[in-house]
Amino acid sequence: MSDMIKLSIFRYDPEGGEKPFMQAYEVPMLKPGMKLLDALNYIKWELDGTLTYRRSCREGVCGSDGLNINGVNGLACITPLAGLKQPVHVRPLPSMQVIRDLVVDMEHFFDQYRQIQPWLQTETPTHEHERLQLPEDRAKLDGSYECILCGCCTTSCPSWWWNGDRFLGPAALLQANRWIIDSRDEATGKRLDRLEDVFRLYRCHQIMNCVEACPMKLNPTAAIANIKRQLVARKT
Ligand code: FES
Repeated sequence: MSDMIKLSIFRYDPEGGEKPFMQAYEVPMLKPGMKLLDALNYIKWELDGTLTYRRSCREGVCGSDGLNINGVNGLACITPLAGLKQPVHVRPLPSMQVIRDLVVDMEHFFDQYRQIQPWLQTETPTHEHERLQLPEDRAKLDGSYECILCGCCTTSCPSWWWNGDRFLGPAALLQANRWIIDSRDEATGKRLDRLEDVFRLYRCHQIMNCVEACPMKLNPTAAIANIKRQLVARKT
């Protein structure tokens, strides 16, 4: 087995005037369990300082290194190189505007997240310092709060590719459901009103790419189905 890993990495410099192209690199397998981010760092620090990508925590927490890896979205920092077909094709998240190399413009993605108003909304006053929640109600948030907003799910969704200007996409809708099911939140009706729209919510056609792409093993499709159930339930 070769100790060198072959990679083919998307390159694009909007100021250079060249068309995008795939650049070949080889990096040594530095340690057992070496991750794709380790390989990108090796290229950046040892071979080619011009390679541009985002990363921060290297622990699957910050969500900044979402990439398309051999055709599947994932986080570079938690993707082991062993087992990846070579050359490993590394591209930016699909359907996103590329700023440079592997860095994409996330502004629209985060704007859609802001649209679901991701904060606790209440009307009744509380005399406690905290709004208490039963353990069983807190447990209902499992599978939602862990989202790190990496964009892997939303940018894998064909419905979002085609209607991303109006369909909120899996990540924003997963988070919308997170607040709808929170027992402390008192804005459920208003949240559902804002989502009841042929594009914002109902462009989900349960293709389920989002479930496959989520590095946190969350299920945005199930969350979206729950929102649809809530909309039906309030009419009956
Ligand atoms: Fe933070 Fe990968 S570097 S999630």
